[in-house]
Order: sequence, then C-alpha cells, then structure tokens
Amino acid sequence: MKIGVVKEIKPDEYRVALTPAGARELVQRGHEVLVESGAGEGSAFADRQYEAVGAGTAAGDEVWDAAELLLKVKEPLPEEYPRLREGQILFTYLHLAASKELTEALVASGATCVAYETVETAGGGLPLLAPMSEIAGRLAAQAGAYFLEKPLGGRGLLLGGVAGVAPGRVLVIGGGIVGYNAAVIAIGLGANVTILERSLDRMRYLDEILSGRVSLVMSSSLQIEESIRDADVVIGAVLIPGAKAPKLITRPMLGEMKEGAVLCDVAIDQGGCAETSRPTTHTDPVYVVDGVIHYCVANMPGAVPVTSTKALTNATLPYVEAIATQGLIEAVAIDPGLAPGVNVLGGKVTYEAVAEAHGLPYTPLFEVLV
Ligand SMILES: NC(=O)c1ccc[n+]([C@@H]2O[C@H](COP(=O)([O-])OP(=O)(O)OC[C@H]3O[C@@H](n4cnc5c(N)ncnc54)[C@H](O)[C@@H]3O)[C@@H](O)[C@H]2O)c1
Repeated sequence: MKIGVVKEIKPDEYRVALTPAGARELVQRGHEVLVESGAGEGSAFADRQYEAVGAGTAAGDEVWDAAELLLKVKEPLPEEYPRLREGQILFTYLHLAASKELTEALVASGATCVAYETVETAGGGLPLLAPMSEIAGRLAAQAGAYFLEKPLGGRGLLLGGVAGVAPGRVLVIGGGIVGYNAAVIAIGLGANVTILERSLDRMRYLDEILSGRVSLVMSSSLQIEESIRDADVVIGAVLIPGAKAPKLITRPMLGEMKEGAVLCDVAIDQGGCAETSRPTTHTDPVYVVDGVIHYCVANMPGAVPVTSTKALTNATLPYVEAIATQGLIEAVAIDPGLAPGVNVLGGKVTYEAVAEAHGLPYTPLFEVLV
C-alpha cells in the first residue's frame, strides 16, 4: 500500500505520525512510504533519516495525492478537508464528537476515517489513547513540583524535602493511567503520595503494584474535601468514559487549600474536575484562583514531542501494518477492536456516539462493509 505521512499544521503541534524506525518496518513489508519534507522536524527526525530507511520525502501536495493510507496525528483542519478523497484511508486522532463541521467534511469527502481514540483492545481498553495518558500523568507530577517554586508563584516548597525536612504532599484524584503515572513520578521525587479512586478493583491492582509506597483511599466528596486541605499538589486524573469530567473540586473546597498550592487538572480535556478549571496552553500554562495555581494544559504531551511521537507510533504501528498489509476490511475482521476505530466510511457515520452527538444518521459498520 502507498502510505503517506504529512506535516501537522495545527499550531504548537510538533508530533509526527511515523518515526523512521516505523517507516523501516513498513518498507520491509513491501509498502511504499512517502513522508512530507520536514514532517519529522518537530520531533527531531530529519528527512534524511526517513530516506535512509527507504522512505521517500516529497512536498505535501504530492503526499496527499499519492497516499492510499494517510497517517496524521491531529484531526484535519479546514484547509485540509478538500485534500481528502474517496477511497483514501485516514488514520489519526479525530475526536469527532467535538466537531460537527469536521464530521460533515469527512462524510462529504468519501474517505474512510479511522480514529486512534476509539480503537479498542479485547478488554475494552483504549490502546492508542493510553500512551498520551502515561505522558500527561508523568508531566503532571513534574509540573506540580516545578510550579511549587516560589519565583513561579508557588508555596516555595521542595516536593521531595531533604534529610530532616518533610516532603510535600501530592493528592492524585483518579488512579487510572494518568493517576498511576503521576504517582510513580511523584514517589520518585520523594513526595508523600495519596491516590483517591472510586473503583475497588483498580485500587486492589494499585495496591499490588505500588504496595506501601502510596496511600490508597476511596474517593468521595467528603474525602476530597478533607484531603485537599493538606495537599501541596493536587492532580486531577478522573475519567468517566464518554462523559464530561465530574466537578469534584468545588469553589468552596478550593478556598480551603493552602496558599501557593498547585492544582494540575489533567482531566481538562474533558472539561476539568474543578469548578475553577479552564483550558490553558503551553505558552501560558497557569493562572491563579483563590491563591491556588491552576495548571490546565489541554494537550500536555505536545510539550515533549520527541517522547510523545515515539510513544504514539509504538502504539499505532501494529494497526498501520495490519491495515496496510491486510486491507481495512480484512484487518477489522481479524481484530474486532479496530472496528470501533472506523468513525466514517463511504459517506456514512459508522460510530454511534458521533452520530448521536451531531444528530446525524448512524449506519453500523457491517452494513457499509457488506
Ligand atoms: N491534558 C492532557 O493533555 C491529557 C492527556 C491525556 C489524558 N488526559 C485526560 O486525563 C483523564 C484521565 O485519563 P486516564 O487515561 O487516566 O483515564 P482512566 O480511565 O485510565 O482513569 C480514570 C480513573 O478515574 C477514576 N474515577 C472516576 N471517577 C472518579 C472519582 N469520582 N473519584 C476518583 N476516581 C474516579 C476511574 O475509576 C479511573 O480509574 C481523562 O480525562 C483524559 O482525557 C488529558
């Protein structure tokens, strides 16, 4: 198959959808890989690294025209809509429920659009979202430690303490992928870490792998109220699949927090779990409400594209290989978890939640495939 990789044009997006290592795997399997010149630059991959493994590099127009399977990181922007065409397969993050305009443009294009974020594992996990959650969780602990510094407006506390001086307290709300990774880094920095979780099964698992290194406590409104009073850093890491994040930290609770404490609301991409959270950017990441520093960057992995690109492509490559080698229909038949990834096919919306979100007709995938 002819596989194209284009440069991301979304502001502040430095990731690329394929590494030279991934390109080599695809070339070795007999596929033709064409990468837009400069597409890897933001992630520290030069054109010559792709060329050295047998991929071609070309201008963007040529890549869009040649690609039967087009790999991207972010959803197409309006100037990219007309470039999609019938029969082409687009594989990227789409988040279609958030944009009717994009959904309609993809339907009109006739292209087959497969979204990273809705591909599933056999157990219902989201394998192409997980790597970004791992990164965001780890960054959240780092950001918490950093913004505690006095010149940055924080309490002026060294999170790990030193001999004879107690470490700071980190409260992680939600012990999923983000929460676990935040806890691991906070523990590594020497902090005193508590995770509040709602799922007993998840707490049993965390107890097994983090045994003795964190306090695991059942999450409730009362518990959150009590725990955030003592916290130096609070990390919001909850998720209720398919729903907006619950507002677990109310404005009155915030008033009980220490002056100069840091709230990293990672769940901000789902609306945030504090009433006072609003999305921020890497160029202006924090603001203060009631003396509490709010760090609410909605695309945290964007700050570390070298790591994020590798983590993302490690996860996507097996699916790219499957689609390119077997063709989409066969690949979906072999791996049913790929089926929910197909959001739009043949001018129809084939992912129910997206159709529902925009009041568009829903057509089950198998009806379009037969
Ligand atoms: N800002 C960013 O750049 C960025 C990057 C990646 C992920 N995220 C977001 O981070 C959030 C967490 O993602 P994840 O991958 O860890 O999800 P996850 O499903 O792995 O974990 C969420 C956890 O929250 C728990 N939970 C739900 N309600 C709770 C409550 N009331 N109290 C305590 N725990 C509760 C669940 O039991 C689950 O264990 C999501 O909103 C995700 O979109 C943001």
